[in-house]
Amino acid sequence: MENLISLVNKIQRACTALGDHGEASALPTLWDSLPAIAVVGGQSSGKSSVLESIVGKDFLPRGSGIVTRRPLVLQLHKLEEGSREYAEFLHLPRKRFTDFGAVRKEIADETDRETGRSKQISSVPIHLSIYSPNVVNLTLIDLPGLTKVAVEGQSDSIVQDIENMVRSFIEKPNCLILAVSPANQDLATSDAVKISRDVDPTGERTFGVLTKIDLMDKGTDAVEILEGKAYRLKFPWIGVVNRSQADINKNVDMIAARRREREYFATTPEYKHLANRMGSEHLAKMLSKHLEVVIKSRIPGLQSLINKTIAELEAELSRLGKPIATDAGGKLYSIMEICRLFDQIYKEHLDGVRPGGEKV
Ligand code: GDP
Ligand code: NA
Ligand code: MG
Repeated sequence: MENLISLVNKIQRACTALGDHGEASALPTLWDSLPAIAVVGGQSSGKSSVLESIVGKDFLPRGSGIVTRRPLVLQLHKLEEGSREYAEFLHLPRKRFTDFGAVRKEIADETDRETGRSKQISSVPIHLSIYSPNVVNLTLIDLPGLTKVAVEGQSDSIVQDIENMVRSFIEKPNCLILAVSPANQDLATSDAVKISRDVDPTGERTFGVLTKIDLMDKGTDAVEILEGKAYRLKFPWIGVVNRSQADINKNVDMIAARRREREYFATTPEYKHLANRMGSEHLAKMLSKHLEVVIKSRIPGLQSLINKTIAELEAELSRLGKPIATDAGGKLYSIMEICRLFDQIYKEHLDGVRPGGEKV
């Protein structure tokens, strides 16, 4: 199954590479049907921090205000123990980043390139892949925060623009939603809960993440929510403790932050009994598991879609004339290769599940 998730990752990258060139109209459909996990919530609710702790790496622009202004499609690829971790952007194909501070700077620069350093937003995604022994195979999407008012330098339409953009990602039935809400604000007013209920009323693809548990007022706690007695979702809320702004300023590293988070839940009397299902590591494991289930259940659907796309790509190729030396032609071929590989894995999967098949 590891294979299948990484194959889906490849298809997503190939689709975007091609989509950027506007060559094949069939591909957005394929892209739309692939599973991913999107992070939604109000501004400064801790979305980027949650993503960072899932990845276990310090690499996203974070802070107060509208920091995330373009969708970031983040693909995590698990490497063997002992391998050196690195990152790659789709828009810089031959450059390997081993300095995650430089990754953060490139995300900010690439955001500015598209939005012109203003506080405007853009729905054109940035694609980043991280290869590391310390991650699980996942595709995550960081989105601009939902907001109620425009700030200086922004058009009044920005509130609606952000909501529309977020919606366009999370309304796809294949998108798992990470609804991030800060524990120090009333969940009844949570933007994350509101929008995810809207697009996923039964809650079958929504995961509630409660951040800033350490910042709750003295005498209050999140036990009712975390035990599923209040604001119940289909999947239980997962509490996390991310780094505070002071931690970030002091460069507290992720490993130390994870350890502290673990200790926090294990030693705080209110949360002790819930400790084994709290924290970012538990969240990452749970998401990966669920993504596998979704991919498995989607295989037949994906398969027919991919077949259709192969046919369309073949038509496109013969229209362009073979052999094709251009970049676009090369990309079409590589997508077809990926689709064929998918096809092969799918058939192996079927062999495994057929009655009489030995592999099940
Ligand atoms: P985003 O705007 O939703 O992406 O939020 P960020 O991840 O950028 O976080 C906003 C601010 O809240 C940053 O200063 C974080 O350090 C801080 N923050 C996020 N989560 C937590 C948490 O669980 N505990 C504490 N103390 N601070 C947090
Ligand atoms: Na922010
Ligand atoms: Mg952010």
